[in-house]
Amino acid sequence: MPTKIDMAKFAKFCKDMGFIFQSSEIYGGINGFWDYGPLGVELKKNIKDAWWLDMVRNPPPGPDGQEIRMVGLDCAIIMNPKVWVASGHAGGFADPMVSCTAEGCRKLFRADQLWVSSFGDQSQKPQGDSFVETDLPNIIAELRRINEEEPVGKREELKKQVERVRDAKIASIYQPALLKSCIASSEPDAIEGTALTKTEQKSNPNLYRMLTWHLNHAGGERWPVPCPACGKTQLTEPRAFNLMNETHTGPIKSDENLAYLRPETAQGIFVNYRNVMDSTRLKLPFGIAQIGKAFRNEINPRNFTFRSREFEQMEIEFFCRPDESMKWYEYWRDLRKKWYSTLGVKSDNLIPREQGKEELAHYSIGTTDIEYMFPFSDEPQELEGVAHRGSYDLTAHAKHSGNDKLNYFDEEKWNADSGGRTTNSFKEWMKTNPSAADIEKYQFTPHVIEPSAGADRFTLAVLCEAYTEDKVPDAKGNEETRIVMKFHPRLAPIKAAIFPLVNKDGMPETAMKLYRELKPYFNVFFDDKGAVGRRYRRQDEAGTPFCITIDGDTAKDNTVTIRDRDTLKQERVPLSQVRAVIERALMPGS
Ligand code: GAP
Repeated sequence: MPTKIDMAKFAKFCKDMGFIFQSSEIYGGINGFWDYGPLGVELKKNIKDAWWLDMVRNPPPGPDGQEIRMVGLDCAIIMNPKVWVASGHAGGFADPMVSCTAEGCRKLFRADQLWVSSFGDQSQKPQGDSFVETDLPNIIAELRRINEEEPVGKREELKKQVERVRDAKIASIYQPALLKSCIASSEPDAIEGTALTKTEQKSNPNLYRMLTWHLNHAGGERWPVPCPACGKTQLTEPRAFNLMNETHTGPIKSDENLAYLRPETAQGIFVNYRNVMDSTRLKLPFGIAQIGKAFRNEINPRNFTFRSREFEQMEIEFFCRPDESMKWYEYWRDLRKKWYSTLGVKSDNLIPREQGKEELAHYSIGTTDIEYMFPFSDEPQELEGVAHRGSYDLTAHAKHSGNDKLNYFDEEKWNADSGGRTTNSFKEWMKTNPSAADIEKYQFTPHVIEPSAGADRFTLAVLCEAYTEDKVPDAKGNEETRIVMKFHPRLAPIKAAIFPLVNKDGMPETAMKLYRELKPYFNVFFDDKGAVGRRYRRQDEAGTPFCITIDGDTAKDNTVTIRDRDTLKQERVPLSQVRAVIERALMPGS
């Protein structure tokens, strides 16, 4: 792997082996939710532990050769709903949807994907004067230009276009209130606020074409796209569909206690930025990391666990000086790609892709997706996004919460620059009306680089990467096909299996003694059932890197055989060295 594989066969293998089960399967399952079985839970835990060790406790030195300061957090899944207003998720975290109104169908579809399937070849797109390609990117570009150059009069013209967006009943997608406010206020920031979600941006230009058709057919006409399920042209107009899962806190379900399951772990970090600084006395640059569950009511969960409705993220928010931010962006982009390779993902299957300007999320100055060539797709798919978020989040939370302490006072620089100043007190100095540029030398909102990885997505990539079918000789020397999971030893669910060759001559007792000696250090497995060849096969399928066999010679010379899963080579090793052999294979960077 990953050449193409039959995902249904692969999912069955994962189930049979105890890696991944469908959630609540005995009730028919539930779309977009998955459970990890006995081997899967160990695999995913090893992935999270490796990330925490390599990124939080023991990251490599920074670009300047200095140690990196990183600390962790574990925030609540449910936060004050105002957090999601400030972050932009409450307003813009939505996909456009259409539903089929035909009796007996009533299916729901992503609007932009329907357009692709219906008008993908462009020859079938609606023709004639009615199809005017005035689209949102043009409106935004025009807004930006007018805000910068044009007098107020010209804005009226634009306002009319915005009104048409609202009249076309797709108001919630375009957020006309925001568009209007940005015309009125002429604030470049407000224009940024109108940017579509990442999903919407990715689906351009088809989404825009479809929305434009609606702009020009506001008279109640039906969209002429047949429902992919029933074929009738009874689809509704596109409506915004918020991806956040709602819940209520407290005993009474009311609008006042509406809350959301977090759609990303990042915001917990931003709102605790000050708490972390105050409690740790950290100075810039530093990172805050978190591993935790996130929930998105994805319209189309698919490709096994790739797009789920409940998943786990491993996120770092790295706070730095604005003028050093590009250096840190490059550092994290390169480091994160390298990390996947050190855990056994072949470089050829890892593709970093710098997002185009039109693709960037509303908060991002630049983003590199680290993509992986999953075997279910012809194109590489996102494993992790490394985003330069600028000062977007801290600024937004400062504004929405009214907390003025989400900036940074550079005390070291202030003290170092003391020459020529009449006072050492920053407060006093502020009374002397220094220029904004001078103030910013000492007090500013940090910029943030965010490497955001998916624990489940990487677990799926590791499973795909490890899955191998090869030919090995059986007990009689004939070739047989085996499935072997070639996990990196650090990630392997079981590190070593211990077998007595036969159940006599003291071998089981010696094997059990070794098992008990190793158990406090590693996840090891004792197996004394069946032919040794079959025991090897079972461990190959579980991806166990070492099989240790106690045989007739062990009693004589205190040695055992260690069989390597990938090379099949067997080495005789003193009993006293077994632990060291496994430890060496588990060292980071090995
Ligand atoms: N804080 C930024 C953020 O959440 P994102 O690109 O939406 O950015 C980051 O998500 C990572 O989370 C993705 O690269 C992916 O690995 C994982 N992820 C996102 N949505 C997912 C889903 N529906 N199912 C599984 N993993 C998902």
